[in-house]
Amino acid sequence: MTVNYSNQPAPIGVFDSGFGGLSILREIRKVLPQYDYLFLGDNARAPYGNRSFQLVYEFTLQAVKYLFGQGCHLVILACNTASAKALRSIQQRDLEMLDPNRRVLGVIRPTVEEIGLITKSRNVGIFGTPGTIQSHSYDIEIAKMHPDINVHSHACPMWVPLVENRESDGPGADYFVKKDIEALMSKCRDIDSIILGCTHYPLLLNKIRQYTPAGVNIIEQGPIVAKSLKDYLNRHPEIEQRCSQGGACHYCTTEEASRFSPVASIFVNHYVDAEHVTL
Ligand code: DGL
Repeated sequence: MTVNYSNQPAPIGVFDSGFGGLSILREIRKVLPQYDYLFLGDNARAPYGNRSFQLVYEFTLQAVKYLFGQGCHLVILACNTASAKALRSIQQRDLEMLDPNRRVLGVIRPTVEEIGLITKSRNVGIFGTPGTIQSHSYDIEIAKMHPDINVHSHACPMWVPLVENRESDGPGADYFVKKDIEALMSKCRDIDSIILGCTHYPLLLNKIRQYTPAGVNIIEQGPIVAKSLKDYLNRHPEIEQRCSQGGACHYCTTEEASRFSPVASIFVNHYVDAEHVTL
């Protein structure tokens, strides 16, 4: 049985467990400023990275239902953990029941499509949350699309908590970023490109650059996802026509708005007036 959601044009929904998805939203808005956006951060329950498959799936499904309920016809899971653990089930099972005409897209596939054009040594490093790395989603997708690429993965369980707790510039961040980069590079000295496979990690970019060996490409997902979304909307006019235009962006969080707004403002470089919501 399908749910009777509104058919009016509506903002593009962008979801993350917390602040990280804002690094994607910021780049999407640069490339596609004409659309309206509705951002949802499940900050009250972040991080997702250490949570079970089932829980990440349940939380993500709640978020998708919320955004559909707000009218969104297209939802971007701007979260690798949710893309790795929930996207396939939602696309293949839940959409049919919720509304087969709506779409949910993730961030892993566009990143994997792009990496084949970037690496020369064909040795790629992936940093991600424990959930993303243990799901092997990157290994599986890269093996399908670029069978000649060797994938070297490393989970960074402390990086998201550092960002969520506003410690990205502190000495704790130096310690963990250096340690994790050394651990990844010790797996293969030929790695020439590292995917930041978590949307929170761009907030640690200065430190990541500082400790990454010179000449290694650091791949941020924001511009890749933005370009891929633009292509998607060109190829799918039936969805594009249902994305409202006006350039507005509304921010929702499951945390108290007053805790969300100051950090979110740093991510997007402008003042964020957020609304507290429950899923
Ligand atoms: N930003 C998310 C990602 O891209 C997840 C962070 C988390 O909640 O652990 O994986």
